[in-house]
Amino acid sequence: MNSIQIVHNADHSVLTINRTHALNALNAEVFSEIDFVLSNPLPATSRLLVVAGSGDKAFAAGADITEFTDLDGKSAEDLSQKGQKIFDKLSALQIPSLALIHGYALGGGLELALACQIRIVTRKAIMGLPELNLALIPGYGGTQRLANLIGKGKAIYYTLSSENMDAETALSAGLADFIVEDQQAGIEFIQKFAKKLSFKSRISLDLALEAIQNSGSADGFALESKNFRKAFETEDMKEGVGAFLEKRKPVFQHQ
Ligand code: COA
Repeated sequence: MNSIQIVHNADHSVLTINRTHALNALNAEVFSEIDFVLSNPLPATSRLLVVAGSGDKAFAAGADITEFTDLDGKSAEDLSQKGQKIFDKLSALQIPSLALIHGYALGGGLELALACQIRIVTRKAIMGLPELNLALIPGYGGTQRLANLIGKGKAIYYTLSSENMDAETALSAGLADFIVEDQQAGIEFIQKFAKKLSFKSRISLDLALEAIQNSGSADGFALESKNFRKAFETEDMKEGVGAFLEKRKPVFQHQ
């Protein structure tokens, strides 16, 4: 891989965009390498996939604008659909996908973070959709995901004005889930989270995530009941309940 790096730690994987010289702008190579990672199984021990940017200036400062000059309308639509498809894989990942945002997350970079299931931002995060400054619009799911997260009114305000949000604003708007002091604190937050997940039964993690991913859909409650039943039918559940009653730590088969 040239433009991204993927590192598999004991209990979580970290995908880092590696184009510091261009503020980690997402070019065709970044997209195809992210697609490759998301199209292949992660190690069974990975409980989280973290997405981050290299360097201390940017998560990703957008789609690579230098690649726009050769596009016509049809190839732009194709590019948008391709980007949406890749980002959909991230949002539908079967382990939590988590964006660690430090510095600029703009345009396609913010859309990448929006496709992650959780967003952690440092105090130096700057987030926005500046596409309209180029007489463009967001094309990798940003018009949909931002509105779903922060509501239509705020999505219209921030997209049409191209105004950026700082960490506090993003937190209060619901774009950011957690604020950490700096990148190191973000890494520590993630390591603690991954450790907590590593003690759980893998089956209940998968079943809970699937149900939460379907929240807001017509069959979300039905899926919750179905998955509740599936959890009940596992040996791990018997072990979890038994261990609680016997006042000991559970040892799950699927850990
Ligand atoms: N696409 C391609 N290259 C980009 C880029 C992008 N989206 N964003 C930054 N870069 C490049 C710059 O061209 C520059 O390259 P150079 O050193 O070869 O000139 C390098 O990254 C550093 O960026 P620079 O603009 O010098 O940094 P800055 O600190 O002055 O400004 C930003 C930072 C983020 C405000 C500014 O780079 C910017 O506005 N980027 C574009 C953001 C955008 O519109 N994204 C949406 C695209 S649809």
